[in-house]
Amino acid sequence: MKIMKKVYLETFGCQMNVSDSERVATTLAAAGFEMTADEGSADVVLFNTCSVREKAEHKLYTRVGQVRNSIGENGEIRAKPIVGILGCVAQLEGETLFKKADGVDFVLGTQAVGRVARAIEDVENGKKQVADLAAREENYDWMTSPAQRHSPYVAFLPIIEGCNKFCTYCIVPFSRGRERSLPATEIVRQARVLREQGIRELHLIGQNVNSYRPKTLEGLENVPGATAFSKLLRAVAATGIERIKFTTSFPRDFHADIVEALNEHENLCNWVHLPVQSGSNRILKAMRRGHTVESYLEKIDRIKNSPRRIALSTDVIVGYPTETEADFAETMRLFEYCQFDSAYMFKYSPRPGTPAAALTDDVSLAEKTERFLRLEAIQKASVRQSLEAMRGRTVGVLAEKKSARAKSEYSGHTACHKVVNFYSEKAENEVLGTIVPVTITKTKSNTLYGEVC
Ligand code: 5AD
Ligand code: SF4
Repeated sequence: MKIMKKVYLETFGCQMNVSDSERVATTLAAAGFEMTADEGSADVVLFNTCSVREKAEHKLYTRVGQVRNSIGENGEIRAKPIVGILGCVAQLEGETLFKKADGVDFVLGTQAVGRVARAIEDVENGKKQVADLAAREENYDWMTSPAQRHSPYVAFLPIIEGCNKFCTYCIVPFSRGRERSLPATEIVRQARVLREQGIRELHLIGQNVNSYRPKTLEGLENVPGATAFSKLLRAVAATGIERIKFTTSFPRDFHADIVEALNEHENLCNWVHLPVQSGSNRILKAMRRGHTVESYLEKIDRIKNSPRRIALSTDVIVGYPTETEADFAETMRLFEYCQFDSAYMFKYSPRPGTPAAALTDDVSLAEKTERFLRLEAIQKASVRQSLEAMRGRTVGVLAEKKSARAKSEYSGHTACHKVVNFYSEKAENEVLGTIVPVTITKTKSNTLYGEVC
């Protein structure tokens, strides 16, 4: 009997990386490998990496060191597994990773991940320091297999890869290359397959989903909408998948027709993620974001004034080079105005090779931390308010997981992407994967609690 080689795959960073990892696992399983959650027993250890901030990159080097020097349960030194680095750090560092992180056997860039089985084979055949940073193969298979997805009920579907925006602080255009949109016919085909496989919630993902621009409008010819993206939203809505979410949206390309589509189709979920990055026009210009505070707020007002209540979330960076107290005060003011349902907040982190990295990082770490905490306090109050507003309401919750702590406790998301915990006495297989009507009774930090009604 052939012994299956075991692969442990660890993923850092964004949903795009989670999605790439699902495809890597799908490819490897088809090539006869067994995916394992137990790092200690793995023959191959893979890291799918993130380079968006310095912290994630440092973590990778720590993890490679741990794998290299792994000690078994009885104190024995374990044979080193084959170690492969995939994704953004691999793309940016290439062969220098072999010097920076001792013990790395191969490096696969963001578009080379589909060739992972071949890279492992090359190393097994004695090749040293295998590096592949080339473009995607022609016949790349975008479909993930159910067994390798992060959830049996929620699926990620990349509709656009890469980024053309070149915000001055951001490494993504370098790590993921130019924007490439998947044909609409392929997206709709996959959405249908996912629905048949039991997926209840589909996330259309991309660095900037609303910059979606396929080579042709094939498949969207007869769909209403002013832009390719809103046409696509409607076409995917027509597949009948119960919930469709999309992230991330780029403010400059966020047009009225997206809100219109959300109002027309109940299964397009009422949640928009629109990163603002700063509330100061001077800083936004320095970042080359392509939007102003005024143009951003116009979009926020449109979303907030929509007939359907739409939840809002954002990303923000504090302490960009030259950010003054006055600039930061404008960010706080914008947050007070927008009352985001949630926000991802980051301290500016210089990324080598980006235009901003050439500037003096003149906001001290202490100052960044101080600003971060002040903004966080404002945001926490918004979150509290947005959760409190849910109390007493009955909402549909997709039961995604059983709680590890409490018996009969489940956890999942609302259509507006809030986490809800609830109790149900029903059998697990009757609850998981269904959309349960839950009345919200309690709120706690970032979570809602409720009872099945
Ligand atoms: N420093 C801090 N935060 C960053 N982001 C991107 N690049 C940087 C950086 N150099 C944040 C932005 C982006 C999110 C994914 O990460 O807010 O929207
Ligand atoms: Fe980075 Fe700007 Fe592209 Fe977002 S839009 S990935 S912040 S360059």
